[in-house]
Amino acid sequence: MTQDELKKAAALAALDYVPEGAVIGVGTGSTVNHFIDGLAGIRSRIAGAVSSSEASSARLRAYGIPLVELTNVDELPVYVDGADEIDGGFAMIKGGGGALTREKIVAAVSRRFVCICDASKKVATLGCFPLPVEVIPMAARHVSRELAALGGKPVLREGFTTDNGNLILDVHGLAITDPRGFETRVNQIVGVVTNGLFAHRGADVLLLAAPGGVERFER
Ligand code: A5P
Repeated sequence: MTQDELKKAAALAALDYVPEGAVIGVGTGSTVNHFIDGLAGIRSRIAGAVSSSEASSARLRAYGIPLVELTNVDELPVYVDGADEIDGGFAMIKGGGGALTREKIVAAVSRRFVCICDASKKVATLGCFPLPVEVIPMAARHVSRELAALGGKPVLREGFTTDNGNLILDVHGLAITDPRGFETRVNQIVGVVTNGLFAHRGADVLLLAAPGGVERFER
């Protein structure tokens, strides 16, 4: 099976977690695109979706799935999203697609985070995938220096602006042994909007696709 076929298998398994009649949270990325395609087949069963990016909104809209603004919602039953890395404690690095801030907001108001991944995303220690950090543009040099002082090698994502009008620094060379502590530490740097560590709000369910099938893990 190709990696894309594995992503699709994980994504379609997440349809089991979509409650009847609910508004659900929808993440961003190539794995989530497969989820949205699957969701289209059961769209009459849901009330709508809160999207985490302009890209996912466009795809949902194309299928006629009603988009709901988060300003009109207090809580969502479930949020479905991919990850760039996930560890044994269900902490993740996200933001490879640059949608980390909105993803973190939608995840924060969701009762259950269902993470959909191919098996290559499961790691013992987070950090091999560069950690995305969204920054206010005028703070980029300052934040870069602070991230270097924490032991990382920040690289500006060239030619990329987030849906919020900000920049992304991708931090290479990390081995994150304390995901919660590091998430907090990076967020304390002035000028950081948020970072792609999802440790305080990690996943609740992991659907991990390997050639032998989709494994389901819950915590
Ligand atoms: C988007 O900003 C990311 O958080 C994605 O969820 C993550 O990068 C996974 O992407 P893929 O599903 O494309 O691998």
